[in-house]
Amino acid sequence: MTTEEVRRLPKDATFSLLGVASRLVRKKDKNDNPFWDISVMDGTGQIDGKIWSSSEWWNLEGDSRIRLDPLADDAALGLEGCTVGLMGKVVEFRDQNQYNFNVVYRVDQEKYPPHGFVRRSPFSDEAMEAEFRERIEACGEPVRGFLTRIFFERGLWREYRAWPAAVSVHHAYVGGLLEHSLSVTRAALALVRSYAASGVPADADIVAAGALLHDLGKLESYRLSPTPQVTLPGNVVDHIVLGYHRFMSLVEEEGFDMERALAIGHILVSHHGSREFGSPVLPATSEAMIVSAADELDFKLYCWREQVAQMDAGRDVTDFVPVLQRRLWRGSAAAPAPLAGPGGEEARR
Ligand SMILES: [Fe+2]
Ligand SMILES: [Fe+2]
Repeated sequence: MTTEEVRRLPKDATFSLLGVASRLVRKKDKNDNPFWDISVMDGTGQIDGKIWSSSEWWNLEGDSRIRLDPLADDAALGLEGCTVGLMGKVVEFRDQNQYNFNVVYRVDQEKYPPHGFVRRSPFSDEAMEAEFRERIEACGEPVRGFLTRIFFERGLWREYRAWPAAVSVHHAYVGGLLEHSLSVTRAALALVRSYAASGVPADADIVAAGALLHDLGKLESYRLSPTPQVTLPGNVVDHIVLGYHRFMSLVEEEGFDMERALAIGHILVSHHGSREFGSPVLPATSEAMIVSAADELDFKLYCWREQVAQMDAGRDVTDFVPVLQRRLWRGSAAAPAPLAGPGGEEARR
């Protein structure tokens, strides 16, 4: 079964699953017995579950079938980032489905390579790259030259095209940062046109550059190994400061216009829109307000798209979504819209 299919199972259903263990953390229950929090990813999504102390752990690599002791064996301790097979059951805990895994298999890593189970953006790499290049080409100088040089001559593109935008919650997959940045840019430029008609001027080049670069720091906050993981700088400095620092280094090295650099840098540091969400200053220009609004909307609509798509056909309202502090309603969108995606290209899914 896929993680998406498992998420649709009712209480008491049993299942087996093959995926990459993106997170495996040992904990202790109130009786001091060990248990593990595990997140498993496959091409359809990610599922979080528990492995209790009564569970069995096996190594099936090669022709072996060896019982593992998860408290002592290296083969069990090093399962994070490896492909695992799991057998489990859906149980109910505080009105929510919880997934208990009672058998854990370390499978043959050559036969089932972990990177083959890492989830990817549903939009094609080619369509996203084409739209990204178009967005840069549409800018005037000096922004166009600056973006072209930092992405394609300095090699930023290599990571940026593949990076995740998060480890969970939104766009937490290969290509997620690019998908999210393009979506924010598309929405922000539409707002520029819309507000021009309302008498509010905004510089489209600054908005495009700010939107494409707003989460630049995520290149240092996350890594793919092979699933999205938070780095130490990501944990203790985070992407706003990391991104601004990297951006200003690039500005200096490229000798980019300081007035424009300040306007774009302001978008990077203010894009979370409030101090409690990590921005040291609040958006103070029309360009920064537009990018910050587009970023927040993109995050919320991503959650809506994911949650509604995963909801059973007979339901109208999702379970409570903690990150948005609400249940989500399908509304009048009877079926999820087909993914039109970057440049209007057919989506891969
Ligand atoms: Fe951000
Ligand atoms: Fe963002």
